[in-house]
Amino acid sequence: MIIQPRVRGFICLTAHPEGTAQHVKNQIEYVKSKGKIANGPKKVLVVGASTGFGLASRIMAAFGSDAATIGVFFEKPAAPGKPATAGWYNSAAFEQEAHAAGLYAKSINGDAFSDEVKAKTIELIKQDLGQVDLVVYSLASPRRTHPKTGVLHSSVLKPIGQPFTDKTVDFHSGVVSDITINPVESEEDIANTVAVMGGEDWKFWMEALKEAGVLAEGVKTVAYSYIGPELTYPIYRNGTIGRAKDDLEATVPVINDILKDINGVSYVSVNKALVTQSSSAIPVVPLYISLLYKVMKEKGIHEGTIEQMQRLFAERLYTADGQIPVDDKGRIRVDDLEMRQDVQEEVAKLWKEATTENLEEISDIVGYRNDFFNLFGFNFPEINYEAETNEVVNVPSITE
Ligand code: NAI
Repeated sequence: MIIQPRVRGFICLTAHPEGTAQHVKNQIEYVKSKGKIANGPKKVLVVGASTGFGLASRIMAAFGSDAATIGVFFEKPAAPGKPATAGWYNSAAFEQEAHAAGLYAKSINGDAFSDEVKAKTIELIKQDLGQVDLVVYSLASPRRTHPKTGVLHSSVLKPIGQPFTDKTVDFHSGVVSDITINPVESEEDIANTVAVMGGEDWKFWMEALKEAGVLAEGVKTVAYSYIGPELTYPIYRNGTIGRAKDDLEATVPVINDILKDINGVSYVSVNKALVTQSSSAIPVVPLYISLLYKVMKEKGIHEGTIEQMQRLFAERLYTADGQIPVDDKGRIRVDDLEMRQDVQEEVAKLWKEATTENLEEISDIVGYRNDFFNLFGFNFPEINYEAETNEVVNVPSITE
């Protein structure tokens, strides 16, 4: 079929198999261009492996460290006449490239919050790898069915306490407008968001893996967080999602305790704001990201997900001397370039100036849009989007 983008708000309903494969290949090429890392991981489980930071982590582990990878994700396969989700095509392309390079790569498609998927993953590790030495936890989801209570928790992206009014952009039309987001009405909204995006499920994963004996001596685990500038605090770090991130970060010592007798260690890495399927859903953030991209590109310090994950592995998690640099709260920081004072001062200045009329000039809204379409395999010059393509693509080693 001929596959063109079909956009509804901040999601794209279609994805292009060859375009997503190009996206994956570009990331692999970047990792290869940086060379292999010494002392890197060899057997890696990535939970949330099909898009964004999780996919980039999987690519980095495989092509930057020759690691065998098991990827867990929740994606829709294609049916004739109906393209798969981008993460499905990404995973198909990743596995093909990994297998061609002689690397073990298998995937599990299902709800990572469930006990069933955890059990399947453990079975697969036991059968094929014995143990894993790195667990990357990179889930981003709007909801979670709690495996013990059966309750379906839905997260909300809201401020806490005060209504929040600021600028936002519709990144398709480029219209900048004011938006007021009302605060949560009850503690329950906060608790639900923490239940979905906080640390409990990461802890459940690590408990289950430990109990099954599939974690190697000295195992590392990392989950991803975000802080960002003061201008997004009301909607991000001081809002409901921020509470979930506080909870995720507070889970680090809990997991360290679970892992202590096998000398395992857990980290939260604070990453840079980037265009992913998850971040485009947060109001205000797309305008911030398009200004940030402009400033960081001008300074020559812009990074995408793969550059971030290459630096996380090579310069943080697996340094030559084994030291892992952390901040005063024990967090790994790869948002250091985003948070540089000169960068933030310029973004804050541009933020005040931004209007619909000057947006193209003072921001990188064009780059934002391009990254958004890239997530779904569109806007790659190598691909002819007028041509027929085979939408039914299999992930070679998938367990459903
Ligand atoms: P994403 O939306 O690109 O990836 C989410 C992944 O989770 C996908 O692989 C998806 O299949 C998987 N997933 C979702 N629900 C699932 C379920 N029930 N079962 C199995 N898999 C499921 O998201 P992104 O942006 O890469 O986020 C990953 C982490 O990075 C999140 O913790 C996010 O808060 C964090 N982060 C994101 C930043 C950004 O700017 N995008 C910045 C800093 C941190």
